[in-house]
Amino acid sequence: MSWIRTHTCGELTINQQSDQVILNGWIATRRDLGGLIFIDLRDRYGITQIVFDESNEEIHSVAEQLRPEYTIGIKGTVLARDKETVNPDMKTGEIEVSVTELIVYSKAKTPPFEIKDGIPTNEEVRLRYRYLDLRRAELQKNLILRSNVYHTIRDFYHQLSFAEVETPVLMKSTPEGARDYLVPSRVNAGKFFALPQSPQTYKQILMVSGFDRYFQIVKCFRDEDLRADRQPEFTQVDVEMSFIDEETIYSIHEELLSRLWKEYLNTDVATPFPRMTYESALKMYGSDKPDLRFDVPIHNLSAQVAGSGFQIFRSTVDKGGEVLSITIPGQGTLGRGALDRLTEKVKSQTGAGGMIFMKCMDGEVSCSVGKFLDEETMRSMADASGAGDGDLVLILAGPAPDVYHQMGGLRLIAGHEFELIDESSTKFLWVTEFPMFEWSKEDLRYYSLHHPFTAPKPEEIPQLESDPASVNARAYDLVLNGNEIGGGSIRIHDSELQQQIFGILGIGPEEAQEKFGFLLDAFSYGAPPHGGIALGLDRIIMLMSGAKSLRDVIAFPKNQKAQSLMDNSPDVVDESQLKELHIQLRPSAVKS
Ligand code: AMO
Repeated sequence: MSWIRTHTCGELTINQQSDQVILNGWIATRRDLGGLIFIDLRDRYGITQIVFDESNEEIHSVAEQLRPEYTIGIKGTVLARDKETVNPDMKTGEIEVSVTELIVYSKAKTPPFEIKDGIPTNEEVRLRYRYLDLRRAELQKNLILRSNVYHTIRDFYHQLSFAEVETPVLMKSTPEGARDYLVPSRVNAGKFFALPQSPQTYKQILMVSGFDRYFQIVKCFRDEDLRADRQPEFTQVDVEMSFIDEETIYSIHEELLSRLWKEYLNTDVATPFPRMTYESALKMYGSDKPDLRFDVPIHNLSAQVAGSGFQIFRSTVDKGGEVLSITIPGQGTLGRGALDRLTEKVKSQTGAGGMIFMKCMDGEVSCSVGKFLDEETMRSMADASGAGDGDLVLILAGPAPDVYHQMGGLRLIAGHEFELIDESSTKFLWVTEFPMFEWSKEDLRYYSLHHPFTAPKPEEIPQLESDPASVNARAYDLVLNGNEIGGGSIRIHDSELQQQIFGILGIGPEEAQEKFGFLLDAFSYGAPPHGGIALGLDRIIMLMSGAKSLRDVIAFPKNQKAQSLMDNSPDVVDESQLKELHIQLRPSAVKS
């Protein structure tokens, strides 16, 4: 039996003084002052202080037995708190409820950690007891934000005549770069479904069917190495449109994101968002997702050091590599110890072989390899780095493009280390003109940088045959504060061109027919020009809420090993289940 509450625990103010109320919730804290027992009663709306005084002996004695996390209901009277005990930081801070009746719905074991924000607790323990962690205000706030954002997103697309269409969760594999999660079929022995890495092929087929404007808030599954910004199971806002170009996708999504930022963060985001080509992003920021919250661009010193006396610089440039620098304003006084620690961090985190530095102090330029360089070279390096008096210049040398990525890593490390990042700013950016393909030195073949359905720039189609590496794609990524929060492209809608792209990717006509015949066939029955995007919803909520990990914005996330610790999945299954699925485990997978 449950009492029906009259108010939530986040609601009562002095306006309800003297009212009789009913509250339900969990005991957050309990202070026993002998005659008086104070309890902070918590629900997802807030906390209300309730008080038991000894005039009601029966209830007071029950209250003495109450412990944190018990679930209780109370009836009582709203009273103004004494002036000294008013808490102006809480909505309910002016009142307390004097309890006249009490019901204990359930007792609770002592929780394995204190359920309170800001207390460092082992994350594995928190994940194991996720239902307790989810009682914390911070996680509840994140999930409520998420729920509200869903609502705004659906409303936004519906107003623009997008149709929300559900696509299958059991499907044929769509190669998007990661491994598939496979699902064995009982009734089709030896055959497997894949869980969608994204609904890419389905949404394109919906365009062939004439749906014109599609969106879906959809779960995607990728069996890939995990990081704080990656989950094996995550949510995309998936979009596809017909008869459009890049500009349509840009403007609609700029409107959506600026609306979210205004509505939930009260932040005005300027539109249109800036754009940068992939090549500029790599050369200026060493990343395809540059963090523009700090203005530290990469400088190229190769011309300045090509003929210098320092052998590493010379040979790097001779072999076609690059010597790059960034300038850290005002850090010219940084000591040797701090620089050594920075160098070690850069080496271990970026893979750079070493780091060279220069300091501009009191009109003099000094360099960690200064004995090999003449004054003029050092000055021209400092000038090319835009370094002024008091500045520190950090230099990496190596083969391109690796050295650009290493420099991108160094730039981020320096941004954090020297507190150069303006944490309060919101820097959206479209990164455009990605190459169609990247060459794998290990596999000696091309891979799509986005996915194989991305259209090449029309004027570069002739180069597909002669020089595929030089062809750029009509692809774009949406970046926010150094995070990739979306990606998409204009697609190929022509079977022949699609076949040609498969060919470059080493997928022959037979394999293409077997894997993607359905898509190629669909294209042969009147395919509209089309394109789309998918936004990473978990990442967007993470950035909106200020959370540090996707795990803090997903109700039941997986840990770094793609396990759910709460329900212990994945787990072994019965031999009989395997048999039905026609599966025999390899000896290495069977626990001894
Ligand atoms: P893409 O692979 O770029 O594109 O994915 C789109 C966005 O999804 C988010 N994302 C992830 N978020 C959390 N965990 C992950 N493991 C993860 N992987 C990706 C990112 C990313 O920008 N079908 C295409 C879209 C299209 O072309 O329309 C696709 O899936 O924020």
